[in-house]
Amino acid sequence: MADTLRSHHRRLDYKRSIPALLASPQTLLTVLWTVGYALIFLWQRNAVDRLLSSSLWAPPPRPIPKLRQVAFNLTDFGAVGDGVTLNTKAFERAVSEIKKRGGGQLNVQPGYWLTAPFNLTSHMTLFLAENAVILGIDDEKYWPLMPPLPSYGYGRECPGPRYGSLIHGQNLKDVVITGHNGTINGQGQTWWKKYRKKLLNHTRGPLVQIMWSSDIQISNITLRDSPFWTLHPYDCKNVTVRNVTILAPVSGAPNTDGIDPDSCENMVIEDSYISVGDDGVAIKSGWDQYGIAYGQPSANILIRNLIVRSTVSAGVSIGSEMSGGVSNITIENLLVWNSRRAVRIKTSPGRGGYVRDITYRNLTLENVRVGIVIKTDYNEHPDEGYDPKALPILKDISFTGIYGQGVRVPVRIYGSREIPVRNVTFRDMSVGISYKKKHIFQCSYVQGRVIGHIFPAPCENFDQYDEQERLLKKSTSQNSTDIDYEF
Ligand SMILES: *[C@@H]1O[C@H](CO)[C@@H](O)[C@H](O)[C@H]1NC(C)=O
Ligand SMILES: *[C@@H]1O[C@H](CO)[C@@H](O)[C@H](O)[C@H]1NC(C)=O
Ligand SMILES: *[C@@H]1O[C@H](CO)[C@@H](O)[C@H](O)[C@H]1NC(C)=O
Ligand SMILES: *[C@@H]1O[C@H](CO)[C@@H](O)[C@H](O)[C@H]1NC(C)=O
Ligand SMILES: *[C@@H]1O[C@H](CO)[C@@H](O)[C@H](O)[C@H]1NC(C)=O
Ligand SMILES: *[C@@H]1O[C@H](CO)[C@@H](O)[C@H](O)[C@H]1NC(C)=O
Ligand SMILES: *[C@@H]1O[C@H](CO)[C@@H](O)[C@H](O)[C@H]1NC(C)=O
Ligand SMILES: *[C@@H]1O[C@H](CO)[C@@H](O)[C@H](O)[C@H]1NC(C)=O
Ligand SMILES: *[C@@H]1O[C@H](CO)[C@@H](O)[C@H](O)[C@H]1NC(C)=O
Ligand SMILES: *[C@@H]1O[C@H](CO)[C@@H](O)[C@H](O)[C@H]1NC(C)=O
Ligand SMILES: *[C@@H]1O[C@H](CO)[C@@H](O)[C@H](O)[C@H]1NC(C)=O
Repeated sequence: MADTLRSHHRRLDYKRSIPALLASPQTLLTVLWTVGYALIFLWQRNAVDRLLSSSLWAPPPRPIPKLRQVAFNLTDFGAVGDGVTLNTKAFERAVSEIKKRGGGQLNVQPGYWLTAPFNLTSHMTLFLAENAVILGIDDEKYWPLMPPLPSYGYGRECPGPRYGSLIHGQNLKDVVITGHNGTINGQGQTWWKKYRKKLLNHTRGPLVQIMWSSDIQISNITLRDSPFWTLHPYDCKNVTVRNVTILAPVSGAPNTDGIDPDSCENMVIEDSYISVGDDGVAIKSGWDQYGIAYGQPSANILIRNLIVRSTVSAGVSIGSEMSGGVSNITIENLLVWNSRRAVRIKTSPGRGGYVRDITYRNLTLENVRVGIVIKTDYNEHPDEGYDPKALPILKDISFTGIYGQGVRVPVRIYGSREIPVRNVTFRDMSVGISYKKKHIFQCSYVQGRVIGHIFPAPCENFDQYDEQERLLKKSTSQNSTDIDYEF
């Protein structure tokens, strides 16, 4: 008891004596010295840290390969990589010099290069060094407005014009964006916040948008935090996307699709990692009457070796804007993890067009809510001018080798009387389910067949064949409906 009282007393003493201590000149000096030494020590440690992390101890920066005859550094045009200086003019001067020379390479060195939107030119390589970061300015005053895409008739979220993309190209040939995993960062946070608060009067801009162009290659870089869709090739031919990382927060980053091939032909997307706030990949071809009139399909697209996460939408989607048609798409060696849906085809009356010759092969679903989805009532229209009798055709879709675990509803194919889904094939499927054994292979207005081992057991709508493709049981109920959104 006495001890406690004494120590309590001492503590009070101590508090009272601090001002007294500082009042004495000697002790004040001691305190100042101590603080001074501590500061010098911290400063030196930081300096050593800086040295360690730069030239002295770290490996030297990888030299930038020369991929075109003419090459420039961004700093040749007065750019400053401090994350504060606005470098739009430097990018524009560089691109205009490359255009004058008939092509060339622009190296973006390590640093933070803030810029407003700028255009690319033909026969150009944009090379992002290791630790080079292009930062999009997050003030819409600096973002130019552009006419709506002809196959959409509107900005996607607001009528009228739309913001252009941070890195933009039109009517180009032979464009490469590559590097040693440098980053294009859209600083989308401000845009997402303003969008949610309805403070924007125009559709947000994509991070990279290339339109009416051919021979485009995007590789070995990271794209992150786009204001809107991340990479949007529009009405392009011969596009390759390889070995890229695309990142955005998996929630709270509205419409940050990873890659949106839109009315594109001959395209490959491979060896990439995508984790974003909307669809990982969404193949499109225009919206209702505008897309029907524009009439440019997406075709001959190969998507393989992707790891995708999408907690809001799906790993790989087709639609919902598909009015110009989508055909000959192969999606293979796809892993979708911790996601809402793995693959989805979405459309609705009014779209017109078609989705056909779609091949899915070797899909792995790890902890996804709904695995395979076909949805024919995605009723989102640009305006009242759409033709409700413009019905899309959905057919010739095959799924071979579907694996995984922790899936609530492996299959939900929701065809309708107006938009039946025809000629769907399942071959070899084994998916571990996480929830209930009822309503896990949901079907409506779908015709087709299942071949070989299928788990969970398929719905009655399909004809059943054994491994040798011998008919076991013909379906009598293609039009029966068992769809339950509760699961
Ligand atoms: C670009 O800068 C690097 C050093 O960062 C230098 O070695 C190279 O010569 C420069 N290239 C040009 C085209 O100026
Ligand atoms: C970029 O390209 C668009 C579309 O061609 C054009 O309207 C715009 O003026 C260009 N911007 C610059 C700075 O050249
Ligand atoms: C992928 O890109 C990274 C840098 O972004 C590079 O280190 C790696 O070698 C590339 N892989 C392939 C297969 O090209
Ligand atoms: C490239 O950078 C991203 C983001 O910093 C990182 O997640 C990814 O692993 C890197 N890729 C390679 C191949 O080093
Ligand atoms: C949107 O329009 C309103 C009314 O015309 C205007 O007050 C506001 O400044 C605009 N906002 C932006 C971000 O342009
Ligand atoms: C990606 O980087 C790797 C390693 O540096 C290189 O071998 C490859 O050619 C690059 N790929 C492309 C398509 O640029
Ligand atoms: C696309 O690439 C192929 C083969 O590389 C070539 O034959 C064709 O001309 C290219 N098409 C366009 C429009 O560039
Ligand atoms: C389908 O697309 C692939 C590329 O994924 C292409 O090689 C093939 O020629 C296309 N088939 C037809 C019939 O156009
Ligand atoms: C199937 O895809 C997975 C990645 O999801 C890959 O590891 C595996 O090698 C693929 N299998 C075949 C036979 O290609
Ligand atoms: C059904 O679709 C497959 C491709 O998945 C195709 O090979 C086959 O010809 C189609 N059958 C009919 C009857 O159209
Ligand atoms: C099933 O629906 C399709 C499309 O609506 C129709 O053509 C077909 O006759 C129906 N079949 C049966 C058995 O009712």
